[in-house]
Amino acid sequence: MQAVIFSQTGKPTEVLEPIEVPLPEPGPNEVRIRVIASPINPADLLFVQNLYGIRPRLPSGVGFEGVGRVDKLGEGVTMRTGIRVSFTTLGAWSDYVVVNQRGLIPVPDAIPDEVAAQLFVNPFTAYAMVQDTGLHPDQWLLLTAAGSAFSKIVIQLCRRKGIRTIGTVRHNDLNEELTALGLTELINVEEQDLIGRVKAVTEGKGVAGVLDAVGGHTATEAFQCLARGGTMFIYGLLSLQDPTFNSGLMIFRELTVKGFWLSDWMRRVDSQTRQQVAQNVIDLLASGQVALPIEAAYPLAGIKQAVEHAERHGRHGKILLKI
Ligand SMILES: NC(=O)c1ccc[n+]([C@@H]2O[C@H](COP(=O)([O-])OP(=O)(O)OC[C@H]3O[C@@H](n4cnc5c(N)ncnc54)[C@H](OP(=O)(O)O)[C@@H]3O)[C@@H](O)[C@H]2O)c1
Repeated sequence: MQAVIFSQTGKPTEVLEPIEVPLPEPGPNEVRIRVIASPINPADLLFVQNLYGIRPRLPSGVGFEGVGRVDKLGEGVTMRTGIRVSFTTLGAWSDYVVVNQRGLIPVPDAIPDEVAAQLFVNPFTAYAMVQDTGLHPDQWLLLTAAGSAFSKIVIQLCRRKGIRTIGTVRHNDLNEELTALGLTELINVEEQDLIGRVKAVTEGKGVAGVLDAVGGHTATEAFQCLARGGTMFIYGLLSLQDPTFNSGLMIFRELTVKGFWLSDWMRRVDSQTRQQVAQNVIDLLASGQVALPIEAAYPLAGIKQAVEHAERHGRHGKILLKI
């Protein structure tokens, strides 16, 4: 079978390669899955560059989530073979993966493969982070990198809750799409003054929360848009640059800056909360109320072109590896 691996960390287009590897066998409490599709997420590319929260053990597989069909059961597993499951593991960019049964969610027929492949990383994070903000209807939430798959889900969840959203972008290619999803205000940071526009839109009050994935200058300015008692959640490293926080603002407006990582959230919350969030995410995706668009699909053998496409500006959706 084929799998994408890397033997040294570095630029993904240079170090990732599809190779032939033996078919893996499931151990106790594990299942083998015939993979159907897996997305290319920023976390995968950070992992290959050794910039992620876990370090690769080389040579390493890559890809943290996907959808597939259960193909073989390990000892102690009672589920049916053939059922379609979303899974989270390391090494999803592969014809087959072996996954602990705890990392599986059976998916209803109403969720297409393209959506089921992306079920864990962005929908879970979006759902959990909107909950963690504790925002109420009519409060303002500022999202940096508003065109990302993650932000598109947050925008749709906030619209349903009546939370008003301001999103930053760096080009105008997605403006219509983001407005149609329910983004209340859009700010192109290449053309407009972020702090001045947020002040005008919120009638001088500022935003109650910021979700930042960009860092650097954009996050520095987004922090200054917080209203008294506001919180900035940092969950991404897109610019690979650190923001600077104004200590005076932090003290005299009692602002909070917090990190968020889905892996830690999964460990932090109890199993009932995890199951509740999973059920809510499945219901939203099965009802078609939240869309997760795809821009293109590539075979494993086309991994370099797929990654180049994933790194392009102005994408309208995810790049999938279809296996
Ligand atoms: N902490 C967690 O647990 C967690 C979980 C899920 C996702 N995330 C993070 O969430 C973020 C979004 O993930 P995703 O899968 O939704 O991404 P995605 O769909 O691949 O989209 C990436 C977006 O980021 C924008 N972007 C890239 N580099 C940028 C930069 N330097 N400055 C401004 N915008 C930039 C791109 O816009 P352009 O069109 O302008 O290039 C694109 O809209 C990532 O940082 C990811 O790591 C974190």
